Amino acid sequence: MSKYDVKDIGGYEWIYSEKVQEHFYNPKNVMTDDLKEKDFDAVGEVGSPACGDLMKIWIKVDPKTKKITDLRWKTFGCASAIASTSVLSEMAIGKTINQAYKITPLQITKKLGGLPKRKIHCSVLGDQALRAAIDNYNKKILSAA
Ligand code: FES
Repeated sequence: MSKYDVKDIGGYEWIYSEKVQEHFYNPKNVMTDDLKEKDFDAVGEVGSPACGDLMKIWIKVDPKTKKITDLRWKTFGCASAIASTSVLSEMAIGKTINQAYKITPLQITKKLGGLPKRKIHCSVLGDQALRAAIDNYNKKILSAA
């Protein structure tokens, strides 16, 4: 069992929890055309070595509290990546960047009520992109100091 396995709800079958379906059909905090990238404080982008899918996350951070006030994302990933990042966005908004940095794929997968075993790697895309965005934010802050 890998460190990302939470509950093998479907084994090697393609069974998605209700929560996965809910977030896949109604993904939260997606980057939309009416939003401008320049209005965000930082961006992170990663690709999955497992399948070549891309994930990009933009964040807005309150400079005083260091809390994430907005998080938007876009992906070419699959249904599991979409559901995972949607739920991740809800988990991260309102947290400080230090708290958000510690969100793990295991926590994301638990919130989703599990993922099929072959889809566990999809939950890693969002948290890696979020950490890349937070790294990008910290780098900008440091270089501006
Ligand atoms: S993101 Fe590539 S299979 Fe899920």
